[in-house]
Amino acid sequence: MAEELRGKVAIITGASSGIGKETALALADEEVRVVLAARREPRLREIAEVIRARGGRALIVPTDVSIQHHVERLIRTTMEHFGRIDLLINNAGYGLFASIEETTIDDVKRIMDVNFMGAFAAIKAVLPVMRRQGRGHIINVASVAGKRALPYSGAYSATKFAVVALSESLRVELADSGIKVSLVCPAATATEFFQVAENRTGRRVRPVGPVQSAEEVARAIVSLARRPRPEVITFKPARALVVLNAVSPRMVDWAMRQSINRIRGRRGESTAAGAGPGS
Ligand SMILES: NC(=O)c1ccc[n+]([C@@H]2O[C@H](COP(=O)([O-])OP(=O)(O)OC[C@H]3O[C@@H](n4cnc5c(N)ncnc54)[C@H](OP(=O)(O)O)[C@@H]3O)[C@@H](O)[C@H]2O)c1
Repeated sequence: MAEELRGKVAIITGASSGIGKETALALADEEVRVVLAARREPRLREIAEVIRARGGRALIVPTDVSIQHHVERLIRTTMEHFGRIDLLINNAGYGLFASIEETTIDDVKRIMDVNFMGAFAAIKAVLPVMRRQGRGHIINVASVAGKRALPYSGAYSATKFAVVALSESLRVELADSGIKVSLVCPAATATEFFQVAENRTGRRVRPVGPVQSAEEVARAIVSLARRPRPEVITFKPARALVVLNAVSPRMVDWAMRQSINRIRGRRGESTAAGAGPGS
């Protein structure tokens, strides 16, 4: 059954750019009261101003999701301000382009702290609130790379596999609670992701193949908020990749190697293929 979004309260992490920003704007257009969380406060202020100018309501809570007490403050501040939390959208994250050999233990700890632990901490902090309410919806932004790992993105892919695992467990554990859990798996999306990502490859990394817009992914998230479903892979052809990988990982390995070789041939260099079907 479709949910009425008007008047709901949504927390969006990673709301200062890309998918998170577009999701905040799109939800605010549906008269959802949005709470914008990320580290860059000036960016959050600008987005909140845009929302208010359009007649919406927005609260900003500068937050580093890798710091547990920041995440707890985010939940507490939202409750003090709005008195309820209907939607938690765990979207904050960044990429790391490096072969496994180039990836350090510290790299892995740092990226896990943001992409996985950030979502985990937010879920732990919000669940008591949603339990009291007897309802709520948690939407975790993973990636197609959380379904089939990409070369030169092993640590990043691992964080997204972890988000998928967390979402699947939680969804079943909360099945009779009134709290819904959804997973969003975007493919390559045109955001600041590729510029911000840590890059050990020594080369510019850009997406390979079709690229979605952040607005498209935001629309998929709003549609999920309205009609909760377990999972959405936002770029339809990527679904075939996930199925093919379940049937024949060897064939997907082969296709990825071909793609890397093609790019190397085109550039006359050895390259990290960067993000294939999704980053
Ligand atoms: N773009 C793609 O191709 C793609 C594909 C699949 C999945 N995704 C996933 O989609 C999500 C959004 O990425 P995007 O593409 O929109 O990239 P983006 O434009 O770089 O946005 C990333 C957001 O995460 C925030 N963030 C990063 N580290 C943070 C931290 N420690 N604490 C709080 N916020 C933090 C950033 O804000 P601050 O820097 O202000 O903190 C920013 O708002 C990520 O989880 C990403 O893995 C992206």
